[in-house]
Amino acid sequence: MIYFDNSATTKPYKEVLDSYVKAASDYYGNPSSLHSCGGQAEKLLSQAREQIAKLLGVKAAEIYFTSGGTESNNLAIKGAAFTYQNRGRHIIASSVEHPSVSDCLEQLESEGFEITYLPVNGDGQVSVEAVDKAIRKDTILISVMHVNNEVGTIQPVKEIGKMLKNYPSVLFHVDAVQAVGKVPMDLAGNRIDLLSISGHKFHGLKGTGALFIREGIRLTPLFAGGKQERNIRSGTENVAGAVAMAKALRLYMQKSETGLTVMKNMQKLLRTGLGHIEDIQINTPLENAAPHILNFSLKGMKSEVFIHALEQKGIFVSTTSACSSKRKSASKTLLAMGVPEDLAESGIRLSLSVENTEAEAKAVLDAIETTVEQLRKVMKP
Ligand SMILES: Cc1ncc(COP(=O)(O)O)c(C=O)c1O
Repeated sequence: MIYFDNSATTKPYKEVLDSYVKAASDYYGNPSSLHSCGGQAEKLLSQAREQIAKLLGVKAAEIYFTSGGTESNNLAIKGAAFTYQNRGRHIIASSVEHPSVSDCLEQLESEGFEITYLPVNGDGQVSVEAVDKAIRKDTILISVMHVNNEVGTIQPVKEIGKMLKNYPSVLFHVDAVQAVGKVPMDLAGNRIDLLSISGHKFHGLKGTGALFIREGIRLTPLFAGGKQERNIRSGTENVAGAVAMAKALRLYMQKSETGLTVMKNMQKLLRTGLGHIEDIQINTPLENAAPHILNFSLKGMKSEVFIHALEQKGIFVSTTSACSSKRKSASKTLLAMGVPEDLAESGIRLSLSVENTEAEAKAVLDAIETTVEQLRKVMKP
């Protein structure tokens, strides 16, 4: 089996599972309890927070645990919108955000907020100038993802952050779910106020995530309850999940020191090989793309058919993104990039991890070539 669907989710590292089991069985106390069982769990949670903060180069007090990327994005966006709505009700986002951002913005729109969705160019990038131009007196928040989950385009978040130094009252949220460990991130030196991460994208566990909230920023909590996570995220903390996420992040970042080059080489190999196939369009840009995603469209071929044919050969890939792959419509990201509708309906995403090898990439390439040939023969009138 070759698993090339790592942007949907990754296989948890064995060490991560071991950490989870140890923390869950030996430190099962509730961190809010007053006795030592609770105290030990609380200590473990603090250590996980410190480790994650250190790896991201921020303060421990700026890390808040959540149930994943979706919750972090909702908390950041709605939390900021509700807190700062007295200043204004205008929000800016790119038109290629993940549904956990775009659907959240739609909800806010129905509550009277005004959203400006910025177009992207053929590479899937928003321009810093367009962001700058869209800012109004009543703009309170800008949300731009770091790496696009469908095509892998890296957005100019550093440059947007720099430009935003001229707008101190506008908050900047970055969905970094696909970026952590894959592209350089300088949170300390950048003007990012809120940043979402998700554990299962770097070999941690599903249902674990965190939101970086820059010191001094107030968010309205989404949940009412026991006031955990310094009153920002009520609910008994997933201590073992947080420990597992800290472990996964440390391992992933260590491995990515060499793994990024391996992924880049695999991506290049796949791009070159796919380029020789007739009627294929590579949608991932050559420049400004993360090393782990390669998206392409096969003219006249249904992506579901293609994916299941590859599955028969033991290879697992995606249509566009995991959450939209069951909805059979054209990829919103590809359409926004100007890809024609028929090609936007036949997008295939290969997504790599530092755990994949060049031998696997070669095998996938061979399998794609033969699958295209086989399917084209069947499709011929
Ligand atoms: C860019 C991006 N943001 C947010 C999410 C949601 O993360 P989670 O699955 O942890 O809720 C995903 C998941 O695919 C994603 O790719």
